[in-house]
Amino acid sequence: MSADGLDALKREAAEAAIDGEVRSGMALGLGTGSTADYVLEGLAARLADGRLFRIVGVPTSEVTAARARELGIPLATLDERPALDLALDGADEIAPGLALIKGMGGAHLREKVVARAAERFVVVSDESKLVDRLGRQAPLPVEVVRFARAVCEHLLANLGWTSTLRLRQGAPWLTDEGNLILDCRREDWSDPARLDLQVEMIPGVVEHGLFLGMAKIAYVASPDGVKTYEP
Ligand code: A5P
Repeated sequence: MSADGLDALKREAAEAAIDGEVRSGMALGLGTGSTADYVLEGLAARLADGRLFRIVGVPTSEVTAARARELGIPLATLDERPALDLALDGADEIAPGLALIKGMGGAHLREKVVARAAERFVVVSDESKLVDRLGRQAPLPVEVVRFARAVCEHLLANLGWTSTLRLRQGAPWLTDEGNLILDCRREDWSDPARLDLQVEMIPGVVEHGLFLGMAKIAYVASPDGVKTYEP
């Protein structure tokens, strides 16, 4: 499908998710990425014409914060609003049971914190992210502190992962928290819950992009319309 076609689907999914989930007065987690951007646009349009009011958003990245400000969406910090009604975000892979890989935008640490702070975590996507099992398309992004990079690479290799340091213009890509990202791949994805724990337990790993048992619903757009999926 063309990039324009995918963009149209992302917008459709975002519109359906907002209409299906967002109500006036809610405190919302605001995701990161091109699909989440359509959510921001949809929220801004509804705030502007009065369909929604008294919405406050907690952004999952500096990019999202800047974009929300530009669109006039009122923002709060997690310190101010540690309990959110809803978080809306994209994903890089959506497997059966709503097991997700996130973090191609490098924001999965804040995204996971915000999703956990929300009573309901809602995924918004086009159909290209649907997979029959995790690890088909996307690497698993693992955020590590700079001090621990080599040890993390070594321990990940011991666990069967091949890791690649994420770069931008030849230099290490840094997250909003100033950490590195290792994009990790493996053949054996038969036990994602075990992988989740194994990677989480490596000292120096701050967070990885596996989101298991977190999403309550996914709005996924295809040329046939928007379908919802639940775990
Ligand atoms: C950001 O860190 C990611 O978790 C995004 O949610 C994910 O990469 C989806 O992005 P797109 O909507 O741009 O595909």
